Formats: sequence, C-alpha cells, structure tokens
Amino acid sequence: MTQDPSAPILLFDSGVGGLTVLDALRRELPDAPVIYAADNAGLPYGTKSEAQIAARVSGLLGRMTERLRPRLVCIACNTASTIALASVREVLEVPIVGTVPAIKPAAAMTKTGVIGLLGTQATIRQSYVDRLEHEFAQGKRLIRHGAPELVEAAEARLRGQPVDPRLIQRAVDGLRMQPDGDRIDTVVLACTHFPLLTQELGDLLGSVQFIDGAAGIARRVAYLTAGQGFSRSKPDMALFTSAEDIAALAPALAQRGLCETAIF
Ligand code: DGL
Repeated sequence: MTQDPSAPILLFDSGVGGLTVLDALRRELPDAPVIYAADNAGLPYGTKSEAQIAARVSGLLGRMTERLRPRLVCIACNTASTIALASVREVLEVPIVGTVPAIKPAAAMTKTGVIGLLGTQATIRQSYVDRLEHEFAQGKRLIRHGAPELVEAAEARLRGQPVDPRLIQRAVDGLRMQPDGDRIDTVVLACTHFPLLTQELGDLLGSVQFIDGAAGIARRVAYLTAGQGFSRSKPDMALFTSAEDIAALAPALAQRGLCETAIF
C-alpha cells in the first residue's frame, strides 16, 4: 500500500524529553510531518512500577495509533521503551522504534573503562540494561544512578524556569560517590530528558563525554521510512494528556515547529 505523504510520525514521551529526539529527527527528515505526544498526566514514569508503565503506554499508544494513523511510532522515552517496547510491538501494526540506552557506543568511547549511566530509577533496574551491559560492556564498569531530579530540572528548563543547581549536584554525586565513580570518563544519558541539561551536568562532572541515543533513533526512523513521500498538510502538533502547566512550554514547542497544541 502506498504511504499517505501527510501521515505523521508519532513521537511519544512522558514529557518534554522526547523533544531531544525530535531535534535529531528534524535534522534527518526535515520535511516529515510529526505529532509529538507527551503523557504529562502520567509524568514521571521513572518512579512508577513496571506494570503501571506497561499498561499506560500500551493503552495510550493503542488509542493514539487508532485515532492519529501514524506511519511510524517512535517511543522517545527510555523508561517506556525498556519496559513496554516488546508488548507494544505485539499489539500495534505500525512500525515502532524504541529508545535504547547508548551503552554500546559508550563502551567504545571510554578510555578509563568506567562508564556512568544516568537514567530514571525504573530504567536502570531493567534486565534490558543488564543485557546491554553483558553484551557490550564486558570488562568495563558500568555505574548506574537513577536521577528523577533531572527529569524535574529538564521540565523546568524548557518552561524557561531556573534550574535548581542542587538537583544537578545530587545526580552528579549519585555517580561520583560510588566506588570508582571518580574514574568515570563517559556518561550515558539514558533518559531523553537529560540531554537538555548537558551544559549543567558538564559543568559539575568536568571532563567527561556524554552520549545519548537521539541521533541513532533518528537514523533508524529515516531508514524505516526511506522512499516514502512527506508532505505537511497542516502544522505539526503537540498533544498532551493534561492541560496543566503546558502554557509555559509554548516557546520551546514553537521553536521546534510544534505550533499547535491539543489535549488527548
Ligand atoms: N523521558 C523519559 C525517559 O527517557 C522518562 C522521564 C520520566 O517520565 O520519568 O526515560
């Protein structure tokens, strides 16, 4: 079946984090129509249980796919992907691209052999992460820290609010205070919110290199949609599951071409 050129790519996250994936996607596919969907009524995912996240994400993506008819769904959220990707793939017929903590490239980048992994509490305890560590970081040390404070800080930052430096310090201490933490030279940002804070994290962590999955995800989406036509019949839109506290996001959304908002 020929793909409708106005069919959108649906980019899904719990909040503003997926915008870091949208930035990378715009570089790969500037003409692709996009609907950005944030389950802000469910934010934060990282402090919820596996069962809660899986039920929420499958239910929402099922309803969104039915209503919005995307050509592809990108789960631009490590927490949702590491927990629910397999089950969502089982029930939806559209192609689904997930977000995987960038442990493989980090293992190739580290010189000291000590890698920090910043994610949500839910992400860092997943067996998915254990498997990636086992497969790609053999002989390296992976120091994990769950940092809900960075989700809060990133949400504030995109609303133009000041970021509380204590939140960044807490996350940095969570890595550095662990055994071998002083030898970390590479940090995996395994939550899509965290690249919004690279500057603040870099100021406190000193000379480390950061790696996240956004560019790889964007390339994967481009690969899966290669040869398809793209045309925007209406402006790109941001969908939220709650109207609360979204007005202040308007400039950050408009800067990314998301000129309309709606509640789903
Ligand atoms: N942006 C999400 C991630 O990549 C999670 C933030 C949250 O809802 O806790 O993991």
